[in-house]
Amino acid sequence: MPIDTQRLHQLMDYEAARDTPPTNFPALPPIPSARYTDAGFYELERQVMFRKTWLLAGHLDEMPEPGDFHRWDMAGLPVVLVHTEDGSVNALLNRCSHRGAPVAMANKGKKKRFTCPYHGWSYAHDGQLLAVRDARDFRDLDMSASGLRRLRCERLGKLIFVNFDLHTPSLRECLGALVDEWAEFDLENCRLSRRDRFTVRCNWKIAMEANLEVYHVPSIHGRTVAPVLDSRRNVNTFYPGGHSRMVAPIPAGHANPAWQSRWPEISSAGEIARTCTQSYSVFPNLVMPLNQFVIPPIQFWPDGPDQCIVETWTMAPDWGSTAKNGPDMWTEDAGARPSLVLREDIEMSEAIQETLDATQSTGIPLSYQEARIYHAHQSADAAIGREHIPPELQVQAVLNEAWWHPNEPRLA
Ligand code: FES
Ligand SMILES: [Fe+2]
Repeated sequence: MPIDTQRLHQLMDYEAARDTPPTNFPALPPIPSARYTDAGFYELERQVMFRKTWLLAGHLDEMPEPGDFHRWDMAGLPVVLVHTEDGSVNALLNRCSHRGAPVAMANKGKKKRFTCPYHGWSYAHDGQLLAVRDARDFRDLDMSASGLRRLRCERLGKLIFVNFDLHTPSLRECLGALVDEWAEFDLENCRLSRRDRFTVRCNWKIAMEANLEVYHVPSIHGRTVAPVLDSRRNVNTFYPGGHSRMVAPIPAGHANPAWQSRWPEISSAGEIARTCTQSYSVFPNLVMPLNQFVIPPIQFWPDGPDQCIVETWTMAPDWGSTAKNGPDMWTEDAGARPSLVLREDIEMSEAIQETLDATQSTGIPLSYQEARIYHAHQSADAAIGREHIPPELQVQAVLNEAWWHPNEPRLA
């Protein structure tokens, strides 16, 4: 189903009018603050959760032709993405089956086959081992079992997703309702304008969670975001699998005229995209704002318990070949530094990490307005497996299916 515009408007009215959380909305137990500092919990996230969830890894524009490849190491394993002869994209572990050399040394390029730079074993785009130099010197080498390890790789439009777990349901199944709700944004034709990375000195969830609530907007973004977002009318939606969405109307007269005059629109974008600030989170680490001008995903990659890499993207409808640069949502001076809005969040996120590192673990109380954060934490425990998590670090699964899309107790 596409976005239910009428229901969202009813919910905005509901949110503006309420003076308590909705009836029956669960009390959210405090989140253990050690989840942002504990090295063991960090390892569980990295080695378990990030190994079985779909991760945005690339964009087809980065490898437009057969043979084009791109390395991708953001999830902590060496991967090479390659555009194959049949037009699909494969993800391969970038590790030669002989003695472990990376078969793709350059960050990107074009290759008919991958030839290992160490002893010359060569592999096809699907990972199959094609040839071994001096094969006569090997006894019992099983060529057919010695290919590069192939990973799950699926596309949504031009977006390339990777999953390290061979048994996970398909990308579309895991995204669920989001696939239909995003159909109006024509991801098949979104052109990649920028992709940048910034190291931030905080746990990846602290930076991510600044994008999962609008409660902080009046304090941190008084001059930037606050004027374009009516936080009292914000509507949060929880989806199965840990995904969620916020939609808050843009107050009349506050649409961004600079974007309007300069860039082409996504003509199929609907009313919510045009009149609201709308942002999804895709479990575990992707935030996906969507409007009629620009699709600017932002990702949060673990890089140690108290460090992360924020990866920002700007995609947009084709802005034509004459303009050298397309739109840039997230950076200043062509990637030299994050935009002001991002810097506002980063400064606070790094300060929070210092405080959490320096003080004793406590419980972090979350409001109804911040429940998307809770949804992500309880989904993380489900993905990791509760039995692997020390009891003092667990969160209880209190936000149950009754509150997940398409259920809507607020309008009952
Ligand atoms: S390590 Fe690749 S051929 Fe030896
Ligand atoms: Fe923010």
